[in-house]
Amino acid sequence: MLAIRWVTERDEKGYFWPSEEAKKHAWVSDPNIYEEAAKDPVAFWEKRAEEGIEWFQKWEKAYEWNPPHYKWFVGAKLNVCYNCVDRHIKAGKGDKPAIIWIPEPVDEPKRVITYVELHKLVQKFANVLKSLGVKKGDRVSIYLPMIPEVQIAMLACARIGAVHSVVFSAFSADSLRTRIEDSEAKVLITADGYYRRGKVINLKQNADKAVEGTSIEKVIVVKRAGNEVNMLNGRDLWWHELMEEASDNCEVEQMDSEDMLFLLYTSGTTGKPKGVVHTCGGYIVMAYWTSRWVFDLHDDDIFWCTADVGWITGHTYNCYGPLANGATLLFFEGAPDYPEKDRWWQIIEENKVTILYTAPTAIRMFAQWGEEWPAKHDLSSLRLLGTVGEPIDEDAWLWYFKNIGGSRCPIVDTWWQTETGGTLITSLPGIGPFIPTVAGLPFPGVTADILDSEGNSVSGSEGGYLVIKSPVPPSLLRGLYKDEEKFVNTYWSEYGKEIYFASDGARWVEDKYIRITGRVDDVMNVAGHRLSSAEVENAIASDERVSECAVVPKPHPIKGEVPIAFVVLKGVEPSDQLKEELIGAVKNQIGPTAKPADIIFVKELPKTRSGKIMRRMLKALLTNKPLGDTTTLQNPESVEHLKEVTGYKG
Ligand code: PRX
Repeated sequence: MLAIRWVTERDEKGYFWPSEEAKKHAWVSDPNIYEEAAKDPVAFWEKRAEEGIEWFQKWEKAYEWNPPHYKWFVGAKLNVCYNCVDRHIKAGKGDKPAIIWIPEPVDEPKRVITYVELHKLVQKFANVLKSLGVKKGDRVSIYLPMIPEVQIAMLACARIGAVHSVVFSAFSADSLRTRIEDSEAKVLITADGYYRRGKVINLKQNADKAVEGTSIEKVIVVKRAGNEVNMLNGRDLWWHELMEEASDNCEVEQMDSEDMLFLLYTSGTTGKPKGVVHTCGGYIVMAYWTSRWVFDLHDDDIFWCTADVGWITGHTYNCYGPLANGATLLFFEGAPDYPEKDRWWQIIEENKVTILYTAPTAIRMFAQWGEEWPAKHDLSSLRLLGTVGEPIDEDAWLWYFKNIGGSRCPIVDTWWQTETGGTLITSLPGIGPFIPTVAGLPFPGVTADILDSEGNSVSGSEGGYLVIKSPVPPSLLRGLYKDEEKFVNTYWSEYGKEIYFASDGARWVEDKYIRITGRVDDVMNVAGHRLSSAEVENAIASDERVSECAVVPKPHPIKGEVPIAFVVLKGVEPSDQLKEELIGAVKNQIGPTAKPADIIFVKELPKTRSGKIMRRMLKALLTNKPLGDTTTLQNPESVEHLKEVTGYKG
């Protein structure tokens, strides 16, 4: 049978559009949805909330706006876990797989968890948490690899109203400790180890280093890799032993719509990660509808989001969104090139994955490995592709479209952030268009604009700053944990208290579609991972031989960007060994993803008259762009030296 074409041929403008089959299949295919939603966005979201989510009690007021604060579905009661699990069983879908888990070792069988099984496991684990004294509102840290226990733990927290804070498993012990300290978590859930390219990574060792002297009272350890670990008597407990004894019946907690669901730490412009606060009602409404409409998620789909669960994409599209829809999600533990560079394509073929959602950095890596790897496999089960996390260039887009999508599948380029909780800008599969490098239209009910530095809307292709206006999307962050000032300063100050400043540059295409051009603050995007310049700088500056340093991103063909550190030393001579040691400090204090690609030792850093480091100039030096007016610097004589050490060609 010939596979269905879900897109038309490319038109004269270079756009792809949904085919007739795609329009017929899609949940939404009438472009009027945008106008209807725009007429009364609050009514639009109320309708979404009513249709998509089961509430124990309806809201008294849909939207409350006291800039820069807002609430959605005020007074309503619900439980997110109930919406992701219990209700599907009631609806007779209990035997449907919720999670298909693919372990990294090829000889280990996959694990299929149906909704009934998930229900049982989640209830058991919720009882485990309760038995350890975890109550509604308590914080629980989760430091787990890509194993189903992570969704079980998240859902169990949601069930009893505990607030989870998932920490990316490749983050270092120091990073975990900072997050534990800020959230004052009582319990940590981790694993003995996990597989990465055939090797076992000892995760427990990191966890041990992180928890000492913190608020953590109990550490629950999943036995995954069977590696030797230290179990501290009285503090450390095995997951499987606790689960054996726990009852599989646990009532759900009735949560207020505005009660906290989770905290997720992300990088900002300062050295300290920010705890982004998401609440129950608004978040799950958004996770449900964006999963459904953006991925056109149907009952027979096998949905694969490749993001690690330690990031927001993993939260919304590897857990809450698809599960709220009663969908089947595929969850893969390992690396894309283990044992061979066709592992993903093999997984798609074997499991008949229909929707693949990944990051441009992965696509660029596959393109470099060569089209022969996907060509070995039958990928005709795929009907929709997605990307997220960074701007995608036209070459990568077209490579993905042709070699993975067989030139049949649309690509939804989804723009959003940890702060937005769900996708805000993208094309919808039944409406289109799909334009390489362009994210598309704001999701129905979302009001986005592009402003110049004075706050005027820009037109044409001029470019400016991306903002979101009221009524804000239901899933927009409610705050930064214990840091109201930073919340206001970061998001609600650039253009005043009524406009959310996204810290991204953007420009219009045809005055309606949005193209994202990248961060406009000191946040880097390294292989799709959000990283703050200041955090890397702090790690380097912690070495006493360093006088000062500045970290800026440099474009990289696969990772998108890599950090480059400019370092001024304190009376010691530069050496390769010192370079390695400083890179090692970053690895230890943040994690391997943050390692600078190079360290450039310099005599001094370029500074403004007020003493601020001119990062803009350092970026220009690395990319051979014009340096601008250097006479306004405090130390204009530093420029010649900087040109020399960076090999600047102008
Ligand atoms: O710069 C934007 C980029 O990723 C940033 C948010 O990072 P994070 O909070 O880690 O969330 C990533 C996954 C949602 C944004 O400020 N970004 C995200 N999606 C896109 C993007 N840049 C361009 N195109 C996208 N589709």
